[in-house]
Amino acid sequence: MTPAAASELLLSIESTCDETAAAVIRRDGTVLGQCIATQETLHEQFGGVVPEIAARAHLERILPVIDTALTQAKVRGEDLTAIAVADRPGLAGSLLVGVVAAKTLALAWNKPLISLNHLHAHLYACQLIEGAPANIYPAIGLIVSGGHTSLYVCRTAIDLEYLGGTIDDAAGEAFDKVAAMLSLPFPGGIEVAKLASQGNDKAYSFPRSMIHDPGDDFSFSGLKTAVRYAIVGPGRQDFASLDISDQVKRDVCASFEAAVVDVLVSKCRRAIKRHRNRNNNPQNSINRLIVGGGVAANQRLRRDLQAAADKDGFELWIAPPHLCTDNAVMGAIAWKKFEAEQFASLDLDITPGLQRGF
Ligand code: KG4
Ligand code: ZN
Repeated sequence: MTPAAASELLLSIESTCDETAAAVIRRDGTVLGQCIATQETLHEQFGGVVPEIAARAHLERILPVIDTALTQAKVRGEDLTAIAVADRPGLAGSLLVGVVAAKTLALAWNKPLISLNHLHAHLYACQLIEGAPANIYPAIGLIVSGGHTSLYVCRTAIDLEYLGGTIDDAAGEAFDKVAAMLSLPFPGGIEVAKLASQGNDKAYSFPRSMIHDPGDDFSFSGLKTAVRYAIVGPGRQDFASLDISDQVKRDVCASFEAAVVDVLVSKCRRAIKRHRNRNNNPQNSINRLIVGGGVAANQRLRRDLQAAADKDGFELWIAPPHLCTDNAVMGAIAWKKFEAEQFASLDLDITPGLQRGF
C-alpha cells in the first residue's frame, strides 16, 4: 500500500431500514472503526419494522453512531477523504436521515460525497471475505434480503445488469411472515432457521414456485399461503389463539426453509449455466456466484449453494455472516466509485421504495 492509500479514509453511513450504522474504512479495505445501533427492541412488539419509529430512532442515533466510529478509528472529520451514504432503496424516512447527515458533514468538512446503492453494497460484502481474490467480479450476484430477492450480472462492483427478481414477497419477507404466523420472536428469519435445524424438512410438501420457469424471477407469496393453510387451514385469521406444538413448528420451519432454499439454489444454478457458455465466448462467460443480504446468513442456503458449486464446478463467494445483515462496512464499495470519480452533488435525494428491474 502506498503511504497515500494508508491515509485515505472513508466514512460510510447506512440507514436504509432499521439499523443505524457507520464505519471508517481505509483505502486498502482495513476497517478502523465501526458502530451499528439496532432497533429490534423498538419494533418487536409490532412484529415488523414501523417506518415512522425507524426514522425517529435513526435521527436520535445517527450522530452518536458516526461519532463512535470516528472515535474508534481515532480519526477527525477533517482527516476524511470522502463520505459515502446509501441513498437507495429503503424506507423513505430512514434513508433521509442518513442522506441528510452525510450531506451536512460533507459540506461542513468540505469532503466529496458518494451515493451508494444498498443492494450493490450487499453483494460487495463478498469482496470483503478474508482470502477472496483481489477482484471477485465479473459474477452472477444473488441478493436475498428482507425486501429483495434479485439476480444480477455484476460486470464490476458498480456495473450491474438486472436479470430478475421476486414478483411478490422477498425471501426474507417470507421468513419474517412465517415467523409471525408461528408467533416466533422478531426478527423472524433467524428464529425460523433455528427451529428448522431441528425439524423434518419433508414433513410438509410446500410449493417450489417458479422453480421450472426458465426466467430469473421468483415468487414466495404462494409458499407463504401454503404455510398458512398448513397451520390454520383456509379461512381462519387468528394465529395468536392457535396452539401449535413445538414439533409442528420445527417441521413447518424446516419444510418452509427447504422450499425457499431449493428455489434459490435452482435459479442460481440455471443463471450460472446460462452465463458460463455465453455465445461460446470466454470473454463473456461467468462461472462465479456471489451472494449477499440478510438471508445469505442462512446455514442451509450456504450449505446447499456450496454443494451446488461443488457439483456444477462454479466458484462461490457468500458474504461473511456478520456482513450479511445491514452494516456500514459493506459501504467499502464506495472506494470503487471514488476510483471511477462517481461523486454525488449536495442535491443528492433519496430513492426510497423497493427496487425492481434495475
Ligand atoms: O439485508 P437485511 O439485513 O435487510 C434488508 O436489506 O432487507 O436482511 C434482513 C432479512 C430479514 O428478513 C431477516 O429475517 C432475514 O434477513 N434473515 C434470515 C436469517 N438472518 C436474517 N433469514 C433466514 N435465515 C437467517 N439466518
Ligand atoms: Zn439490506
